Amino acid sequence: MDGRDLVRSVKAVGLVGPAQGLRTVRAAWRRRRTDAVGLPARGAERARVPGSVTGVEPGPGGGVVRFTRSELRITVMTTGAVFWGWDGAAPEPSYALSGTSPEADPRAVLEPDKDGGWRVVSERVTVVVSRHGAVEVCTPGGVVLRKELPPRWWEPVGGGQARWVQRAEVAADARFFGLGGRAAGPRLRNGTYRLWNTDPGGAFEPGDDPLYITMPVQMVVSDVGTHLVFHDTTWDASVTLREGEEGAGSGHDRAGMSELRAEGGPLRCWVVLGTPARVLHVWASLTGAPALPPAWALGHHHARWGFGSTQEVRRIVAGYRERGLPLDAVHLDIDHLDAHQVFTVDRERFPGLPGLARELRADGVRLVSIVDPAVKAEPGNAVFDSGRAADAFVRDASGRRVRGLVWPGESVYPDFTDPRVRAWWGDFYEERLAQGFAGFWHDMNEPVSFAAFGDTTLPRSARHALEGRGGDHREAHNVYGLTMAQAGYEGLRRLRPDERPFLFSRSGWAGMHRYGGTWSGDVATGWPGLRASLSLVLGLGLCGVPYSGPDVGGFTGSPSPELYLRWFQLGAFLPLFRTHAALRAGRREPWEFGADVLEHARVALVERRRLLPYFMTLAHLARRTGAPYVRPLWWGTPEDRALRACEDAFLLGDALLVAPVLEHGTDRRAVRLPRGRWYDVVTEEAYEGPGQVLVDAPLSRIPVLARAGAVVPVRGRDGELELEVWAPARGRTGGGLVVADTDDGWDEPDIERFTSHREGDTVVVRREGGGEPGYAVRVRGK
Ligand code: GLC
Repeated sequence: MDGRDLVRSVKAVGLVGPAQGLRTVRAAWRRRRTDAVGLPARGAERARVPGSVTGVEPGPGGGVVRFTRSELRITVMTTGAVFWGWDGAAPEPSYALSGTSPEADPRAVLEPDKDGGWRVVSERVTVVVSRHGAVEVCTPGGVVLRKELPPRWWEPVGGGQARWVQRAEVAADARFFGLGGRAAGPRLRNGTYRLWNTDPGGAFEPGDDPLYITMPVQMVVSDVGTHLVFHDTTWDASVTLREGEEGAGSGHDRAGMSELRAEGGPLRCWVVLGTPARVLHVWASLTGAPALPPAWALGHHHARWGFGSTQEVRRIVAGYRERGLPLDAVHLDIDHLDAHQVFTVDRERFPGLPGLARELRADGVRLVSIVDPAVKAEPGNAVFDSGRAADAFVRDASGRRVRGLVWPGESVYPDFTDPRVRAWWGDFYEERLAQGFAGFWHDMNEPVSFAAFGDTTLPRSARHALEGRGGDHREAHNVYGLTMAQAGYEGLRRLRPDERPFLFSRSGWAGMHRYGGTWSGDVATGWPGLRASLSLVLGLGLCGVPYSGPDVGGFTGSPSPELYLRWFQLGAFLPLFRTHAALRAGRREPWEFGADVLEHARVALVERRRLLPYFMTLAHLARRTGAPYVRPLWWGTPEDRALRACEDAFLLGDALLVAPVLEHGTDRRAVRLPRGRWYDVVTEEAYEGPGQVLVDAPLSRIPVLARAGAVVPVRGRDGELELEVWAPARGRTGGGLVVADTDDGWDEPDIERFTSHREGDTVVVRREGGGEPGYAVRVRGK
């Protein structure tokens, strides 16, 4: 047992009680025994490198370069995305890709390069392969953005999965982002980041890594350009990052370094170059469009573990209503289930749920249900019986159903990597819909099995279908949450074809955005947790997951009124705006922190509601372009190093800059501005960027600045959509997009485009293509 194990088991006992505590010890031993029998022993290994080039075979988009001990397939796609795979690895099968195979660029040519190497030349990118198998990805102008050194494999002499390592060099000034949800980001400092989805147990702080969602997806930003790199392997792996140094030693730069070590799986990689917007657009075209949340899911959600009864739910909803506070959804956690069993209801404490759901719905409040994957292993439990009959549960190498320990006690786990099991599981959402739930919150799907020591998940030797290919948990672990999300999403599409599913999932992997969003998980209450909340949302957005948000107020304990308020004010500008807390944590309702906090929280709630048309527009744009709602300040100007270093503010779409208060006792804060004029949205004071300014941040609000010229769709007093227009600076123009959608269905509203300019002292707004805007216009910041 190491230090982290000890901390975790103490936390686990705290959460589950001493009786469960003992069972976590037994569960840990059981897991260890299963692997002792089921995992192939690591015997002698032989190291291998590609060797030297022996020949090539041109093909669409590039071709194959052969080496003495391997071969490298390179394909440049029409989108400019580059794929390469060693040892015959092709893009498919892949859990990340959306299934619509990208098209190879027929104009890309494979031609000889200097020193016996080869290169693929295309319009948007050049890929240079050295004689020994180094791969450079260059701009058409010949600037190298990334150089992958020849890989090295370690192959078990008796056969089996090869481990491998691939090291890349990037520019000395490059900064790394992404790798899924990382609490200590968004800029990823030097260190090693494991790619193994992990429930930290209890609650996490910025130092805890890895967390629930890991992805081999990195956004690398440097003066010479931005690129996204994706190593498409789901296997347990780790990435070591080292930022470079400019002028290190005798005036020479030391390159930045990123090295991936994988325990197995194909060695294949995608690289996309371009602006951050373009890179994520191509990423979305590869991996699929982000799911579009229904309009209500962009409002305010209130959750808690331990509402305990329908009366308590009614009391909370009435609390919001009586105080005139907007509320759009209430989430029911595991305490509404019968003995914590998935797809059941505790009918004593939650009688008549469908009636409650109807009643709340009439008030505009939806019910969202938690859904955990683990199924209580008890005959008589309908999900267990049905899953047993359908052979739906994960088995070990000896063919026994793998048991783990979660909230309901001894449990078994559906194998979501089996399409048959996904279909079976998806049908259970019918029970949830019949109870009146409108949305789904997937949890504990790393997947978790409580254990006093070792990994808190399934044995590595557990068997999985992996879409029929067969394999074990070392390969399936990281996509467990992703495939569960797929099961839920596809089930809901079958059961409620007219409504967009609302689903968010604690764990996931590259491609999870096709099915829904995510949230922070159990972020520790405290100022560091508040900062981590923003880091997670930004980092996930850069991996193509645009919809997420934290537990406002933090998961554990009791935030001070000030911390709660600052968290609330930040949450109001993040895609998922949800208060939530643990069973024994303090209250999280806005009225529990005194009259001042209530009034300030009201302002945040009302502003969120006013901005709903803007959020809806951002949701549609995320779906159509892959651009996250929440973007780092350097989004439009990645070459601006000062912005690259700025981690405490963000852009919400193109129009707004949000500068949350992340520290105690602040009433003014420094804000770094991208170029152009920015208006404080409350005082309308104008600031000129680029540069740093000091802005008031009283308790009543966090600084939000609007870009001069921006046209922002908002909800007017009468509920109608209006255009809020921020006056362009003299001689400048501006504009904005609007997707007017208040629906929960599949209609494809048009994108409406507006421009703004000045004529003398008047600000004029036009609909693109000419004509009146067609909405009321309110000009601000003159
Ligand atoms: C996990 C979730 C948390 C939830 C709890 C009980 O800790 O992350 O949000 O409240 O389980 O279901």
